[in-house]
Amino acid sequence: MLKGNAYGHGASVTAAFLASRGLPLLAVGDLTEALDIGQAPQTSILVLSPPLPEQLPLAVRHRLHITATSPELVQSLSSLAQGRNQKVTVHIKVDTGFGRLGAAPEELVPLVKEIKKCPYLKLGGIFTHFPAAGGDRIFTAQQLNLFLKLKEEVCALGDCDDVLWHAANSAAFLTLPSSHLDLVRIGTLLYGQSPVSVGAEWDFRTTWQFKTRIVQIRTLPKGHSVGYGRKYRTKKPARIGVIPVGYSHGLELEPLTTPLRQIKHALGQGLKGQHFVFHPMGPLPILGRVGMGLTTVDLSKTPDVYLGDSVTLSMRRVTASAHVPRIYYLAGKVKCILANHEVLSPTGRKISLLGLF
Ligand SMILES: Cc1ncc(COP(=O)(O)O)c(C=O)c1O
Repeated sequence: MLKGNAYGHGASVTAAFLASRGLPLLAVGDLTEALDIGQAPQTSILVLSPPLPEQLPLAVRHRLHITATSPELVQSLSSLAQGRNQKVTVHIKVDTGFGRLGAAPEELVPLVKEIKKCPYLKLGGIFTHFPAAGGDRIFTAQQLNLFLKLKEEVCALGDCDDVLWHAANSAAFLTLPSSHLDLVRIGTLLYGQSPVSVGAEWDFRTTWQFKTRIVQIRTLPKGHSVGYGRKYRTKKPARIGVIPVGYSHGLELEPLTTPLRQIKHALGQGLKGQHFVFHPMGPLPILGRVGMGLTTVDLSKTPDVYLGDSVTLSMRRVTASAHVPRIYYLAGKVKCILANHEVLSPTGRKISLLGLF
């Protein structure tokens, strides 16, 4: 799974790496994400949401595997494919309970029949998605049962051997082995996190850190306000540092997705009113509001922090802006850099992803 800019890791380099490790099919959320990957060598890209009618030519030209959810889309795709004399692979998404994208269960068989009538379309797969595989196991099992029932109906039409059936995300992969079917669509786990608690046999590695450097240090007198809205005032002379990161880079934009996150956030705000960035000498409190591109931190208690020092920020990786350069390490060494959609060598030379891994 490479949606959300490969969960913040940078889609093109991540795709090239995974393809080099032999993954035959990678998936992205939409057409823009697929195009952002560019040419991931030796692998196919499945776009998990149906393109708009006007996007179809682009999707076909890039030989993407396309998600279909309606007969209209199948028809448009079929004429396009025929016009280009090109076989196009289609996956059907069926909604077994998510309540979002997909054909309704009763629409699946007619859609399959429609695709089978089109000589230029290949039915590559049929898939569904679980909204609560980590929490609601009964509902997830019901979804899977429905999906398997649909599979029987579709296979009864014949000629179904090449169709890949897929359903499992990370949570289902861990909690419901019978959902593995022909392939699994794993994101969270792939990038070193687990959506459910798992045993000690799992060795998760940190795949990602957000770092920046201090670009200015100065001392403000007592009573000086800091930042927009003048929400913070120094209580005594304060040594401050400025880092060139703000909400345009994704800082403090983390969605409060779980009750635990919400409680932590409320406690952080209410009790201490404080967020931190991290320096080897200790945590540095963020002072005042985070700006669009600049944030101020308090260095009063850490005299051994200097101009140019690196600090680490806690930031949800998916919300980190794609404009922020990514530096990739392999076996402890910088392998390449992704900046402004270009791939650079460790010394800053433009390089190709082909054959890099
Ligand atoms: C259709 C689909 N399948 C699989 C996944 C992967 O989910 P996870 O990151 O929980 O493995 C996603 C993620 O959003 C998704 O939208």
